[in-house]
Amino acid sequence: MTQDEMKQAVAQAAVDYIQPKLSSDSVVGVGTGSTANFFIDALAKVKHLFDGAVASSEATAERLKAHGITVYDLNEANVLDVYVDGADEFDGHLNLVKGGGGALTREKIVAAVAKEFVCIVDASKKVDVLGDFPLPIEVIPMARSYVAREIVKLEGMPVYREGFVTDNGNEILDVHHLDIVNPKELERTLNNVVGVVTCGLFANRGANIVLMGTERGVETIK
Ligand code: 5RP
Repeated sequence: MTQDEMKQAVAQAAVDYIQPKLSSDSVVGVGTGSTANFFIDALAKVKHLFDGAVASSEATAERLKAHGITVYDLNEANVLDVYVDGADEFDGHLNLVKGGGGALTREKIVAAVAKEFVCIVDASKKVDVLGDFPLPIEVIPMARSYVAREIVKLEGMPVYREGFVTDNGNEILDVHHLDIVNPKELERTLNNVVGVVTCGLFANRGANIVLMGTERGVETIK
């Protein structure tokens, strides 16, 4: 099985998982990235079963609309029963690193609103300790150097993601060499640095369930 086939299988498993929870007024939160794209394509096949979606990025909004799925602004949606999104890493406590695609802030907002966060990954994303994948941090452009210096004090090595602007008009620092043994605390510490919009740690609001595509099929981790 290729990595894309695993992503496709897990995307279909996510649709199967949420389908019984959908009703004609349901609005589904939808993440960003290649696994989320497979999910959107699978979700489109059951679009008659729900009202619409809230997107975590402009790219996701475009893909949903291209499938004829109504996209709502988050402020218009009172309740989001479920949010489905990928991740760059996850650990045994369902803490996540996200933001490889740069959509971390909107992803974190939609995840915060949703009652349930279903994370869809292939097996390569599973780790014992988070931090091999450089941790993305969205920063206000004028604060980039200051935030970088503060991160060095925390023993991380920030790398500016050159030429990349987020959907919110901000920049990304990818932080290498962090050994994330206490993800909840590090998430709070990083989010408290002035100029940080948010970091890509999803620990204080991690996933409720991870569906992981493997060679043997889709595994559920709760
Ligand atoms: C985007 C994300 C993605 O969920 C993450 O990068 C995983 O992407 P992919 O499914 O392409 O591996 O956080 O900001």
